[in-house]
Amino acid sequence: MKIKSADFVMSNSDVAKCPKSKIPEYAFIGRSNVGKSSLINALTNRKSLAKTSGKPGKTQLINHFIINKEWHLVDLPGYGYAKVSKTDKKTFQKFITDYFSKREQLICAFVLVDCRHEPQKVDLEFTEWLGMNNIPFNIIFTKSDKPNQTTLPKNIEAYKNKMLEFWEEMPPYFITSSANKNGCDEVLEEIERMNKLYGNFS
Ligand code: GTP
Ligand code: MG
Repeated sequence: MKIKSADFVMSNSDVAKCPKSKIPEYAFIGRSNVGKSSLINALTNRKSLAKTSGKPGKTQLINHFIINKEWHLVDLPGYGYAKVSKTDKKTFQKFITDYFSKREQLICAFVLVDCRHEPQKVDLEFTEWLGMNNIPFNIIFTKSDKPNQTTLPKNIEAYKNKMLEFWEEMPPYFITSSANKNGCDEVLEEIERMNKLYGNFS
């Protein structure tokens, strides 16, 4: 898919106030610092459409972007960041889970996972929560520029094996890097495919 335009629409912490338009929507979710905002910039070829930071906890709201005037890409706050206060953490969780359970326009969630780490409980639990709520999702492994050529496939394999303890099959997944744009075309192709298949709500 060619990106012709990518614009910020709005930020808020209440799913009821998200854009009303019934265009197809895709949301990026994952642990703080996994690279959600960076990947949005890489996919759209914009340097700072979504705000990024070396410190976890940068994105704190539901951020809507409109792409090619046809579909929404949503940047969400990360989960599993221990340093935010307990009350804030709860708020994140509530509005994140509210977003996923109530947002009818959502076609698919992309759960981002850092390919350098061993499978993390919080990511596995989040995918299980999505599954129990019938919310379709794909996995995106991020930061694939970081591990070496033997570690990367080993880590992906370990993740697959862990997923298969709960799931019957591994959900579709992508191996990406915002630094060298690895995998970005594949993610956009998948979104284009889903737009064609499921994007017509009328
Ligand atoms: P929160 O908004 O805090 O939840 O984080 P986030 O998931 O949006 O992460 P963000 O995109 O802000 O990136 C976090 C850090 O990881 C930044 O320092 C990025 O430069 C770095 N980063 C993100 N993607 C990549 C990547 O593909 N490769 C490398 N090497 N670094 C990356
Ligand atoms: Mg962010």
